[in-house]
Amino acid sequence: MTSIIEKRLSLHKSLADQQKQNDALKSHISQLQALANIGSTMYMIAHEINNLLTPLSSYATFALNNLDDEPIVKKALERAVQNCQRASKIMDSMLTLTNGQKQQNQHCQLSSLIKEIFDSLCRDFAKDKITVNIVIAEDIVIWAVPVQIQQVLMNLILNARDAMLPRGGILTIKAQENSDSVQIEVTDSGSGIKPDDLKKIFEPFSTTKADKKSSLQHSGSGLGLAFCKRIIDSHGGCISVESELDKASTFRITLPKPKTGNNK
Ligand SMILES: Nc1ncnc2c1ncn2[C@@H]1O[C@H](COP(=O)(O)OP(=O)(O)OP(=O)(O)O)[C@@H](O)[C@H]1O
Ligand SMILES: [Mg+2]
Repeated sequence: MTSIIEKRLSLHKSLADQQKQNDALKSHISQLQALANIGSTMYMIAHEINNLLTPLSSYATFALNNLDDEPIVKKALERAVQNCQRASKIMDSMLTLTNGQKQQNQHCQLSSLIKEIFDSLCRDFAKDKITVNIVIAEDIVIWAVPVQIQQVLMNLILNARDAMLPRGGILTIKAQENSDSVQIEVTDSGSGIKPDDLKKIFEPFSTTKADKKSSLQHSGSGLGLAFCKRIIDSHGGCISVESELDKASTFRITLPKPKTGNNK
């Protein structure tokens, strides 16, 4: 009898010890997750700010090189200031996104969001022999966090430009409104994507731009599309891609419209 009681006590003790170990491991895992989250936030911010820094520096240099031409200096400095303001909004928005907090969606006019993106990119696409066609009706409105959708479109536009360098080509941005969603398409007539690369294209660190091919092309980190997917997922939408090697690539985004009476 005594031995059964002793065995029970010993089992209880070992169970309590296991429980303690389990709790310690759980707390360790949540600390590691918090650290991983900080790491991914820093990557996201650095990546997105970098997209704006290159044109910002070009606008500032442009102003310095044209000091005698007051209207040009004024315009270039205004654009530089706009990029700084966007950089600050992007930082806030990335911090909120990675904290898992929900950001306030707004009704935004798609064509003006896209115009702002092209204004923030200093380099004229025509200089790279790229024709830009924007086929978006003025009245198309999306329900989104504006700065985040601009980041997505900026990444798609920069990728499209990279894919068309140095030969040039056509970049087409279209949008169509359906009863319960808005579909946006970004198509380029560039290099296309190999089937093997296509399978993992939205995975982080998946890049074919590890080596710079020319002074115009930048080396990539393979994070742009992973962030795009994360942002579109957080909007309850979806992003997909179709590509034909050496011909064209189309990235398609579908954003849901808010349900009537549920605009929050
Ligand atoms: N429009 C496109 N045409 C051809 N290939 C593309 C296109 N968009 C993306 N890719 C391919 O997908 C890869 C991943 O794109 P992603 O934007 O995630 O990273 P990246 O452009 O390489 O680097 P970065 O982190 O600077 O954006 C690219 O390296 C490229 O091979
Ligand atoms: Mg990219």
